[in-house]
Amino acid sequence: MDATRQPHQNATLDVVRHALPEAHWPTAEEAASSRLFSSVRLGPIEARTRTWVPAMVPWRATEDGEVTRDVIDWYARFALGKPGVLVVEATGVRDVPSGPLLRIGHDRFVPGLRRLVEAVREASEGQTRLLIQCIDFLTIKRRPTKEKFFGRYLEIRQHHRDATGEFDDTAVRSALAGFDDDRLARVLTRDEWRDYAFGYRETVNDTHLPHVAELPRVLPGLFADAAARAREAGFDGVELHYAHAYTMASFLSRRNVRDDGYGGSRDARIRLPIEVYEAVRARVGHDYCLGCRFLGDEVIEGGSRIVDAAWYGARFAEVGMDFLSVSKGGKFEDAKQPKVGEAAYPYTGPSGHECMPTVRSDARGPFGRNVPLAAEIRRAVRSAGHTTPVVTAGGIGTFDLAEEILRREDADIIASARQTLADPDWFLKAERGCGAEVRRCIFTNYCEGLDQKHKQVTCQLWDRDFEDGEDVPRSHDGKRRLTAPQWTR
Ligand SMILES: Cc1cc2nc3c(=O)[nH]c(=O)nc-3n(C[C@H](O)[C@H](O)[C@H](O)COP(=O)(O)O)c2cc1C
Ligand code: SF4
Repeated sequence: MDATRQPHQNATLDVVRHALPEAHWPTAEEAASSRLFSSVRLGPIEARTRTWVPAMVPWRATEDGEVTRDVIDWYARFALGKPGVLVVEATGVRDVPSGPLLRIGHDRFVPGLRRLVEAVREASEGQTRLLIQCIDFLTIKRRPTKEKFFGRYLEIRQHHRDATGEFDDTAVRSALAGFDDDRLARVLTRDEWRDYAFGYRETVNDTHLPHVAELPRVLPGLFADAAARAREAGFDGVELHYAHAYTMASFLSRRNVRDDGYGGSRDARIRLPIEVYEAVRARVGHDYCLGCRFLGDEVIEGGSRIVDAAWYGARFAEVGMDFLSVSKGGKFEDAKQPKVGEAAYPYTGPSGHECMPTVRSDARGPFGRNVPLAAEIRRAVRSAGHTTPVVTAGGIGTFDLAEEILRREDADIIASARQTLADPDWFLKAERGCGAEVRRCIFTNYCEGLDQKHKQVTCQLWDRDFEDGEDVPRSHDGKRRLTAPQWTR
């Protein structure tokens, strides 16, 4: 049964609390001869090291999607740690209101983004390659009250009349509003149940909606325009967001059953992602870094698995992507039921756990948990004769683990989101032989909880580190510092 049809859905995991792995940090000499701190080519550009900060939304843009001082401070702080690559958060390709998420859907966003690029160049002394993640997403609404849903939103159809024995719409509405959830779960269609119990959400299969039907016509142009702006603003490259709960990932999904040539078979599901890539490539040229982030496994019933992803990876490499960044899960389909008045969040169910695993995990634990997916994709890419670098992420927060993954050739680049949030200097500390000073992420997802509530994302560990009288920018509630403490050395 589809999880979204269950009135009281609850993810059950055989959970154990894992201790952080012991860390053995290298000396500066060992670091200098390590793979992690060796350079890597991403098509036309080279990254100084194989260290990568993947996209993280900090909820610091204006309501109009513009870059703010806080956005600049956020990225400049990561840049001080001089990672090989820093990826700017999921940035919307459309010119539509989307709350405090960055946008790149109009030329007016270019000056702000250019300021961000300049700040990162300066803070990293030109040593960090800066990419921007470009995203499209479909409409999702907050979970309605029962009164609103049955009083106004639900379109009354014959099966509602049959179930209630009423004919007049008003009578049908009030009868349905009187049913309990178990009964409603049986009466409503799958989509109606989802809209009632989780909030209205559009999917790529909703081709009865003209704007969903026309996605293959509009998205290549929107992504191409966005990438051209990224280049104009000075970014070193673009990451197409083909992962998690959003439009492009949904085209790749086995759950995409569109019958317009863009759904059903694997060839049809990858068609739009490749058409988007080709439109972007035609606009930015071959001398610009262009790759994508996609899922090694969707981790939802009926979703794509590693066999699909390995095949997609080889195809993406074949068409000319400059890197492949592999993620996992993060879907709406298994998200927890939101409270009335809140929207579903794609990192609350089992697939969300796989995306950002915590120390409360099954026996395999969270550390390097998703590496096998990257390894399988890399093998498929290499077997097809391509050298495209593969990026892996998920619970990597020690030098030893990163180095082991690279030595085994399971991936070419190590992405670390939460460990770099906890300590933006951690790669640099390891590189300089100061690993003992690393502030280690404890992988309990306080930061992700803030993201879920669309609150300014911070790390709980930063607030333990206030110097006496230190005056630092704080969150709206005044309680949390907005950037990591400086590394003074
Ligand atoms: C606060 C927060 C925001 C995130 N935002 C994005 C995003 O915009 N795009 C994306 O692809 N992944 C996003 N992620 C997922 C991370 O990039 C990464 O894949 C995930 O956290 C697992 O890596 P880690 O174990 O190193 O944290 C986000 C993660 C966090 C914690
Ligand atoms: S809030 Fe917790 S999980 Fe997030 S970066 Fe900090 S220590 Fe890691």
